[in-house]
Amino acid sequence: MSQLPKPAYRLTNLQPYGFAIIGQRIQTMTAAGKDVIRLDIGSPDLPPPQPVIEALKQSSSNPVHHSYGSYTGDPGFRRAVADYYARRFGVPLDPATEVLPLIGSKEGLVNLSMAYLDRGDSAIVPDIAYPAYEAGALLAGASVITVHLDPANDFLPDLDSIPDDLSHAKMLWINYPNNPTGAVADIAFYEKAVAFCRDHNLLLCSDNPYCELVFDGYVAPSALQAAGAKDCTVEFMSMSKTYNMAGWRLGAAVGNHEALQNLLRVKSNIDSGHWKPIYDAGIVALDTTPQSWIDERNARYAARRERILAILPSIGLEAFKSPASLYVWARVLDGDDQYYVERALDEAQVAVTPGTMYGVGGAGHIRFSLGVAHDRLEEALTRLRVWYQVKVV
Ligand SMILES: Cc1ncc(COP(=O)(O)O)c(C=O)c1O
Repeated sequence: MSQLPKPAYRLTNLQPYGFAIIGQRIQTMTAAGKDVIRLDIGSPDLPPPQPVIEALKQSSSNPVHHSYGSYTGDPGFRRAVADYYARRFGVPLDPATEVLPLIGSKEGLVNLSMAYLDRGDSAIVPDIAYPAYEAGALLAGASVITVHLDPANDFLPDLDSIPDDLSHAKMLWINYPNNPTGAVADIAFYEKAVAFCRDHNLLLCSDNPYCELVFDGYVAPSALQAAGAKDCTVEFMSMSKTYNMAGWRLGAAVGNHEALQNLLRVKSNIDSGHWKPIYDAGIVALDTTPQSWIDERNARYAARRERILAILPSIGLEAFKSPASLYVWARVLDGDDQYYVERALDEAQVAVTPGTMYGVGGAGHIRFSLGVAHDRLEEALTRLRVWYQVKVV
């Protein structure tokens, strides 16, 4: 019998991370000899640009690159992120005060919640959202005010529908290009969100890891392009999807200086910064990757997206076609996403993500990731087609 004390109260409402559960189940299936194809997880299958790998190798052979780094992150990486924002969005950032490197943007999302939320506070979180926004609030002992994302409103939150009494609310989370729907926002939306946050004394948290995963000529903006955004906004950028560096765990929070200082206060008590060679590789990614590399990578994702869209009607799904992100979001015609996902995994050995992982608003939907190699994707789609024909008979 266990001799351990009870875990902390904060775990009461915090569920295990959805992908951790799916991952365990897939491991068990794989150990039993099943060949599961993963269209669930949003992890790029392709490598980063070669100069990034070379930079890592070179920097890691430098004997003085193995000690602790600075809590505020590598100055060269902060400079490279600021240059990227100036070049790409026309947003000037002071690399010393308006850029804070992260060990992957996910830790920053959660640690920012720890910096701003107490018991009794709340965060406004879209219903259909990346789970870390809610998890951060729950870990901080705070609660969540949900705002529905309606396809009829292009999956943008209707800010006017948020209840008037926001006296306990401190943060508003937004994420465009959106995971899981692929929906996008324009600068007019960001201006509205900034005005809303200034009116209600909220921190606007713009999670923007998919801004370089775009199709059909679409160009994604940054929330920091909205007038006055820096007064109330932190944006999260990530190297994971932009440069296929998901495992490297490198990103940054940018924008409002005071909010970054508060985030740093939490982080510097928890982590000790990143490894210098990772920063050096990140600098090379930001400074030297040609747009043509991003365009060619996106063309591969676009081709995969077309293949998925083409077969959806034959497997009981109806898709939302979007101009960005790493995903296809689809409605299950007979309604139950969990049932669909369970059966696809058990009977076709294809893993897709149930919409309910992103909130109750995701019920009846599933998400496909584009981060899987062409031949595996084709095999998965063939399996799903055959499975669905058998399932409906
Ligand atoms: C919307 C969103 N935000 C943040 C992240 C975390 O990215 P990172 O790898 O930078 O931690 C993800 C990862 O899938 C994501 O989908």
